[in-house]
Amino acid sequence: MPFDIARTRAAYPALAEGFVHFDGAGGTQTAGPVIDAVSAAMRAATGNRSAAFTPGRRSLEQVTTARAAVADLLGAEPDGVVLGPSATALTYTLARTLGAGWRPGDEVVVSRLDHDANVRPWVQAAEAAGATVRWAEFDRDTGELPAGQYADLVGERTRLVAVTAGSNAVGTVPDVAAIAKTAHAVGALVCVDGVHAVPHGPTDLASLGADFLVTSAYKWSGPHLAAMAADPARWERLRPAKLLPSSDAVPDRFEFGTPSFPLLAGVAAAVDHLAGLDPTATGTRRERLRASLAAAQAYEESLLDRLLAGLAALPGVRVLAAPARRCPTVSFRVDGLSPARTQAALGAAGCCLSAGDYYAYEYFQALGLRDSGGAVRASIYHYNTADEVDRLLTELGRLADGGGRMAG
Ligand SMILES: Cc1ncc(COP(=O)(O)O)c(C=O)c1O
Repeated sequence: MPFDIARTRAAYPALAEGFVHFDGAGGTQTAGPVIDAVSAAMRAATGNRSAAFTPGRRSLEQVTTARAAVADLLGAEPDGVVLGPSATALTYTLARTLGAGWRPGDEVVVSRLDHDANVRPWVQAAEAAGATVRWAEFDRDTGELPAGQYADLVGERTRLVAVTAGSNAVGTVPDVAAIAKTAHAVGALVCVDGVHAVPHGPTDLASLGADFLVTSAYKWSGPHLAAMAADPARWERLRPAKLLPSSDAVPDRFEFGTPSFPLLAGVAAAVDHLAGLDPTATGTRRERLRASLAAAQAYEESLLDRLLAGLAALPGVRVLAAPARRCPTVSFRVDGLSPARTQAALGAAGCCLSAGDYYAYEYFQALGLRDSGGAVRASIYHYNTADEVDRLLTELGRLADGGGRMAG
């Protein structure tokens, strides 16, 4: 059955404002059921977690319901889902916790393709421990991250390999399973950044070979909250710095302070919303998520093909990278126009795109593009349409012809 784009768009109230949103990678619009769930949770009587009274039981339930939902999304166990304010915060917690056990001479492997949230926490934890950082390099033409190099990068002293499941800069989907296999062969742990990849297709913790997998709900129609999943037995062995009175149970041990209970209700609603993207999907929520995200992925890929073909036909536009397996995310530059000016000109025409390095710091640094403003990013999400792709291409065509230089 073709992806029902009209039905999908109707679920996002913000689309009524008429902007063209090509910045899902920076954060998607919020789905209506998420807004309703957050609002309902805020309207209802509330209390801190307690089994003693109804509002307190609601808060307890909002936590367990959000964990169960994220577990279905990632193929994890609910008790292995740690909830937190952002992927960055969760990765820092993990890096500090693991890093406390590293010794001089230990090694960690990070990649120059990754968002800095899956680089700097590891580099800094390694520095604090006197451990050595080794770098996986991407191919400058294709933007791919060759898995073969990891055989040379890992060794007996490797403690951790951090790698992205999808580049937020150029969309590359590395062969994480192969990289994880290489890491596991020397006993290293693998932390996978799923922030960009998870919104764009079915995800499975085990098939990725991830020991830790992080995702952010605001990249998949939900609120600004994140989660990190691992085997509960894996969390059990780790001891983060924490307050004395807070729970030592897993996964609570890794969650600090009082969470935003209404936003947790929004996380669960976002997962339910994703599971319903294909209304014909049946079975468990996990099964419906697989079917729905596969349908959304096929739809997004059709838009990506249209965008790439259109960009290739614009002589003044230079697309960065051409990875074989990719998320629907494209970075480009318009000749003679800085990325910031291109972004502003597109913004004036109602098209919302990111410009700069989008925190893919090492990627743009390695290409020598940071000083000249990085690039502009068109990031497709399942509520985008072919007409919107065409509108973006038309605007870019004008800019590439020089019209934007006058306007921008
Ligand atoms: C690939 C990737 N990783 C990590 C992050 C950081 O996520 P958060 O904002 O939840 O810390 C982002 C945010 O843009 C991202 O795109």
